[in-house]
Amino acid sequence: MYNIKTPIKKLLSEEKSGFTTTVMGWVKTFRNNQFIALNDGSTNENIQIVAELGSFNDDLLKKINTGACIKATGHVIPSQGKGQAIEIKAETIEILGECDAEVFPLQPKKHSLEFLREIAHLRFRTKTFASVFRVRNSLSFAIHKFFNERDFIYVHTPIITASDAEGAGEMFKVTTLPLDGSAVGDDGNINYKDDFFGRSTNLTVSGQLEGELAATAFGNIYTFGPTFRAENSNTTRHLAEFWMIEPEMAFYDLEDNMNLAEEFIKYIISYALQNNADDINFLSERLKEEEKSKPEADRSMPLLEKLKFVLENNFERISYTEAIEILKNSNYNKKKKFNYLINEWGVDLQSEHERYLVEKHFKKPVIIYNYPKDIKSFYMRVNDDGKTVAAMDILAPGIGEIVGGSQREERLDVLLERMNSMNIPVKELDWYLDTRRFGTCVHSGFGLGFERMVQFVTGMTNIRDVIPFPRYPKSASF
Ligand code: 4AD
Ligand code: MG
Repeated sequence: MYNIKTPIKKLLSEEKSGFTTTVMGWVKTFRNNQFIALNDGSTNENIQIVAELGSFNDDLLKKINTGACIKATGHVIPSQGKGQAIEIKAETIEILGECDAEVFPLQPKKHSLEFLREIAHLRFRTKTFASVFRVRNSLSFAIHKFFNERDFIYVHTPIITASDAEGAGEMFKVTTLPLDGSAVGDDGNINYKDDFFGRSTNLTVSGQLEGELAATAFGNIYTFGPTFRAENSNTTRHLAEFWMIEPEMAFYDLEDNMNLAEEFIKYIISYALQNNADDINFLSERLKEEEKSKPEADRSMPLLEKLKFVLENNFERISYTEAIEILKNSNYNKKKKFNYLINEWGVDLQSEHERYLVEKHFKKPVIIYNYPKDIKSFYMRVNDDGKTVAAMDILAPGIGEIVGGSQREERLDVLLERMNSMNIPVKELDWYLDTRRFGTCVHSGFGLGFERMVQFVTGMTNIRDVIPFPRYPKSASF
């Protein structure tokens, strides 16, 4: 058996000494030909391995470079130096994988996030990204735990579909047809009958519609999977491939939906705070350092404080109409500080407006509900006023929209009318309409953008830094 080793996290947290152990990991630094700082990814802390002068030959010592992979066995002793309670006095050191320090891109110094994005295949080995991805892991686990504890059924919805769940037309095509023009028929149209599925297909933009089918059988379900959007948005909040969590609940109205979403967000933040305190502390300090260069007024609340604040306070809930009134009367609007000025009811909110409400006006997460029906998707339930739908978005400080959801239109006639007026292909979605034909019911759901949630908890400003290998316009490396 090869894998006999102790995780460095375990050794450092237990602080026990007086026994022999083996560790394996990657060298961070090697000082004075004697002191190895070794990391194995279980924690950002390194264990110090002491290679006593004269005990190891020069050939071996020369190979203990930053980045090299080694196995060390030795006695765990109380540390003489400061900074650590214990260290390992090496008896044997084996080089498992050499690393030429001259060409290894990760030097023991601070690298910019932009540079690290270019070497995303190696950035897991930096403290910042190790922390981010351990937090990402915890949040994923907490999501499943939250729903599992509440008896929600986890449903896998398809990645390849023939429908556009959001009706926004931002889809990546899936095809095996040749791209040399030979797939175009005499009428000038692409002959999808010859395509793999015998019809036009795309990568899913949302699992919601299939989720609704499951919810109208199980009651409460959720999905958690990859989602794809071909929107040409080069922002710090958009990815072409992102992960979304979509719970869908029978017998929930809009208010039930908001209550669940708020409870859910607080639960997963609290789980990460309890289980990743070291990583979040590290990221909080990192952010403080980064923000030092900004004028005081532009600095955000320290990460740890922000997360605790979110846990301890209710989210503000306001209608779209109230939001428009606040924005219209704001100093930003009057002094023309918004790029898009708010003059009339009915306009879509831009991220500058969302951020004003959250960061300047309320200074906490805000849920906006009852949006004008003309700016929202076809499946949202039309309110009695005839001009708004039972939609809700949750806006988070520093991020903007983190959740989008709604009560669904359960009345077949109203839904059909709306689909027709919005040019949604009714025939293609006949299977979806069956839920309304056969035992329809009040139901609701929402989608949480997972990467935006990870951004919120880690304080990372660019969404490209919270997913291991980001996909965005003109970029699909690794
Ligand atoms: O608001 P959206 O488009 O809603 C839906 O897809 C619904 N079907 C959800 C539902 O009701 N079941 O997307 C939901 C969330 C957004 O609030 C945002 O957090 C995230 O998904 N999101 C993105 N995240 C990263 N990159 C993108 N391009 C995103 N587009 C949406
Ligand atoms: Mg949305």
